[in-house]
Amino acid sequence: MKNVIKKCLFPAAGYGTRFLPATKAMPKEMLPVLTKPLIQYGVEEAISAGLDTMAIVTGRGKRAIEDHFDISYELEHQIKGSAKEHYLTEIRAVIDRCTFSYTRQIEMKGLGHAILTGETLIGEEPFAVILADDLCYSEGPSVLAQMKKVYEKYNCCVVAIEEIPKEHTNRYGVIAGHLVDSSDDTYRVETMVEKPEPQDAPSNLAIIGRYILTPDIFDVIRETKPGKGGEIQITDALLQMAKQGKVIAYKFKGKRFDCGSVEGFVEATNHFYTLN
Ligand code: G1P
Repeated sequence: MKNVIKKCLFPAAGYGTRFLPATKAMPKEMLPVLTKPLIQYGVEEAISAGLDTMAIVTGRGKRAIEDHFDISYELEHQIKGSAKEHYLTEIRAVIDRCTFSYTRQIEMKGLGHAILTGETLIGEEPFAVILADDLCYSEGPSVLAQMKKVYEKYNCCVVAIEEIPKEHTNRYGVIAGHLVDSSDDTYRVETMVEKPEPQDAPSNLAIIGRYILTPDIFDVIRETKPGKGGEIQITDALLQMAKQGKVIAYKFKGKRFDCGSVEGFVEATNHFYTLN
């Protein structure tokens, strides 16, 4: 098995119903925080961690994502040499630095199923997963770059976690484990539950949309029965790995914005606007 992480999977087939009507004809991943679509922030984070192969699991109505990570000859021609050319600098740099491949998820059967759909683009190597609607910001190394270091130390699956108010546990996968190294905030995961009610939650440590997975996860997902909401949950598959001591949870340094909710989206917009 190759050990270097080069590929990043982006599950991007979801409907984005919480942003209707904006997402009726536009992928939720293309919603901009200031002038940049959410998925571009994700791709830039992957690049910052040294990854160069983006694997995107799309669905119907998501063609704008493919067009975004491509050259628009008409546009290039129009603004070439003009004062507006710099507006394309960032996206050109992204396109130059990595490759993009796509596969379609035909039916929405949960995050675990979306990740399994991406197997054809990943193959037999460890890979990262970014959920673009969790937008992460950090003053130092990016969250994925931090996680890659953790992976290099432990050589097993890594999930990013943060402390949340106990009343919000039913929005996340929640873990419990024991601290293995307080200097790098890592826990060996013992149990994990998808969206438990507060009274059933094993802790207030929630998984956010950043994962590093080893390719043996695919066989485990294949064996995973539908769980919460009748969907195939990555949390349930990872629980099987955790039982063999193969999952580390890492309390990342930085800030996460839940851009899957209107409040989180507004918060992210304000945050990035103030930075500018
Ligand atoms: C998914 C996962 C959940 C995780 C969350 C992070 O849920 O199923 O375990 O905590 O992403 O954003 P979703 O937000 O897609 O419902």
